[in-house]
Amino acid sequence: MTRVLGIETSCDETAAAIVGRDADGAPKILSNVILSQIKEHAAFGGVVPEIAARAHVEALDGVIEAALDEAGLALGDVDGIAATAGPGLIGGLIVGLTTGKALAAACGKPFLPVNHLEGHALTARLTDRLNFPYLLLLVSGGHTQIVHVAGIGRYERWATTIDDALGEAFDKTAKLLSLPYPGGPSVEKAARKGDPTRFAFPRPLKGEKRPDFSFSGLKTAVRRLASELAPLSNTDIADICASFQMAVAETLSDRVARSFSRFRADYPELVDPALVVAGGVAANATVRRTLEELCRREGFRLVAPPPELCGDNAAMIAWAALERLERDMVPSDGLAFAPRPRWPLDEQSAPVIGAGKRGAKA
Ligand code: KG4
Ligand code: ZN
Repeated sequence: MTRVLGIETSCDETAAAIVGRDADGAPKILSNVILSQIKEHAAFGGVVPEIAARAHVEALDGVIEAALDEAGLALGDVDGIAATAGPGLIGGLIVGLTTGKALAAACGKPFLPVNHLEGHALTARLTDRLNFPYLLLLVSGGHTQIVHVAGIGRYERWATTIDDALGEAFDKTAKLLSLPYPGGPSVEKAARKGDPTRFAFPRPLKGEKRPDFSFSGLKTAVRRLASELAPLSNTDIADICASFQMAVAETLSDRVARSFSRFRADYPELVDPALVVAGGVAANATVRRTLEELCRREGFRLVAPPPELCGDNAAMIAWAALERLERDMVPSDGLAFAPRPRWPLDEQSAPVIGAGKRGAKA
């Protein structure tokens, strides 16, 4: 069995995991340890990079030990060591990358720097043994993208946000409504008791030919409404959240459908086209339901990894490295690899003005 230790420290989760592949080809998660820093950042209403970096330094060794223990392995038993090298917050990247390199050098194992977005992109091959090609919808705090995944290292960004990421829109909406951090789960919880038809929020770019996303207009509409209605009752807050989610769902459906048409045109012979959803926002039940309905309508298969593998984790980093290790795609200069706070998955794609302002997160 090939086994890889992965380390993830690009944002506010300190994580280590070991994944492997059986002789019969089945992927295995041998351990998956995630230590969230939510408590450290809650008082500030968002991730504070300096606090995150310090917390990673303090926690990482213990998290790696826990991952090895859980898998019943010693460091010398793994075939490779991987760490997220970007995109992400520079302090955290340095901590994970330096630790990974040091461990690899000390035990003479190959070291693989991993693109965090590639981790998200390949998770469905770990959980569902999905074959290439497929479409990936990545919806997280820092990214909202549709990526055509053609093979390992063969990624084409077909759509991206021209302003805020979807998770960011959830987080900002929560902040405007004084809901607790992290915002996404708070908005989802409040929305459960709300009326999604009470407020008609905009559906940005809906019907447009270009396949991109935009969410800042939605956030502005929430801000305007909240100040008009102030002081807000609990019912107002619930209705705003439910109406916001409804607008998000409709926008997503419309935008993703555009890329479906392109995918079908590119692969007319493919009988079982798949859409993979990944990133923290993929944990949202309304978003999942919307995508399920869209896929059913359009003849696509929705592959949604379990929520703990949709958000940031190290199993996806170890897995991306394992896929590369198996194909002899190990960089010869891994130990010299410098962190890349900005590292697009598709190096060919032109940057979009205004996109990813929070930038570092994935
Ligand atoms: O992928 P992720 O864990 O971290 C990075 O951004 O890298 O995604 C975090 C984002 C945050 O914006 C958070 O508010 C959002 O995902 N999120 C959700 C939910 N859970 C997390 N958004 C909507 N509904 C949720 N249940
Ligand atoms: Zn992520």
